[in-house]
Amino acid sequence: MRIQAFESVYEDLMGEYKARFPRSGQQHERATKVMVDGGQHTLRLYPPYPVYVQSASGAYVRDLEGHDILDFWQGHFANILGHNPPLITGALSDQLAGGYGLQTGMVDELAYDLATLICQQTGAERVRLTTSGSLATMYAIMLARSFTGRDLVLKIGGGWHGAQPWGLVGVSYGQCGYQSIESEGLPGATTEEALVTQFNDCDALEQVFSQYGDRIACFILEPVVGASGAIPGRLDYIQLARELADKHGALLILDEVIAGFRFYSITPDLITLGKIAGGGMPVAAVAGRAEIMTIAGIEGGRRVRFDGGTYSAHPASMLAGKIMLQYLVDHEDEVYSYLARLGDQVRSRVESIFGEHGIIVRCTGYPNDAIPGSSLAMLHFPLRPDIEISSPNIAADPQCCMLEVREQLLKLALLLEDVYAVHGLGALSMAHTEDDLAQLYAACDRVAERLSEPVQSAY
Ligand SMILES: Cc1ncc(COP(=O)(O)O)c(C=O)c1O
Repeated sequence: MRIQAFESVYEDLMGEYKARFPRSGQQHERATKVMVDGGQHTLRLYPPYPVYVQSASGAYVRDLEGHDILDFWQGHFANILGHNPPLITGALSDQLAGGYGLQTGMVDELAYDLATLICQQTGAERVRLTTSGSLATMYAIMLARSFTGRDLVLKIGGGWHGAQPWGLVGVSYGQCGYQSIESEGLPGATTEEALVTQFNDCDALEQVFSQYGDRIACFILEPVVGASGAIPGRLDYIQLARELADKHGALLILDEVIAGFRFYSITPDLITLGKIAGGGMPVAAVAGRAEIMTIAGIEGGRRVRFDGGTYSAHPASMLAGKIMLQYLVDHEDEVYSYLARLGDQVRSRVESIFGEHGIIVRCTGYPNDAIPGSSLAMLHFPLRPDIEISSPNIAADPQCCMLEVREQLLKLALLLEDVYAVHGLGALSMAHTEDDLAQLYAACDRVAERLSEPVQSAY
């Protein structure tokens, strides 16, 4: 860690954490004996060990000790209505009680209903459903490469599209910025086929297209970069991406696994969806123009094997996704204005609370001309007040921001206040109330007081 003062506060936090969550510690010890590192997703497995959950409802999860923890992670941002909304759990119970719900391996009307909603809401002509965002982005890239007959895949530094070959490049920040290969065991060619450019940097985008334009199959882009900082793309950048893709005959894939049904954006050639679209169940999708999508079908000679998937279009998942999307469509004005209002309030209030304790905090997730309302809020700890968090490169650069304060100190300090945050907070849901936010602000106030001295000594 950066300085001695951080280490000592981190040790104190770890000690208090172990005292507050002993059952989770015991459970984690058992879990590491049967699962690698005790679980399945690195974001869930933070040191010294994660809090184990026994139930979840609305804005809260309950851990093994019985603490009710105010949650801003909300199922990797999937739970826009909060945890286990009765609207969805009730329908799933009825479905199962009615003798349907587990996998049949046959087709039903539910998949049609969900696909129809996706097409209606995104303007896509065809959709194909799968079970994870990682698969969706991989299939979208395969479609783009086949459709264009080209090999290169352009992505942004810090862009997370799941653990699939072309996505495992330039995700974490190293000595040379976002250029590293993230995993061993990848096919050799895939890593050479991924190009990385800096987010929100129009010059860099022009440059990479002018150099490789005739080889780029697709530019895969999150309209709002999620994992590496909740940073919205500027409208001019997203528009330039559209223009350059058209000019050079490449496809634009908008990875809306986080953004889909949380924000709306420009028309891409393909979009990938996940998270919210599953209503809390494992659903993901690729949707887009028929001439591209049908490459995966009989009409297109099944040139891209975007098929298989024992659990694709699982009946219970289809029902949950359908109910979620139908609800969002029917309550669009109310949902998005409520979330945007809460988002605005949280971002500015949290910044000022930390400011009152002499800590510079910048919240990302503010809306811009590309996304008019936003329910994301992520805290960053810049070293100077003039640092603007406009790309993951800035958020992750140790010369600009104190990532360790956000990822290690803040996380544990908030959990000791019964607030769960990932990457420095997370997403608002319809289940969060003004009272919950008051609890967050009080927690932030105590955390800021606690971190004030060590953080200020690092400026
Ligand atoms: C933008 C984006 N794309 C793809 C993925 C991968 O989705 P999944 O975790 O469902 O495989 C994620 C997951 O966080 C994501 O944020």
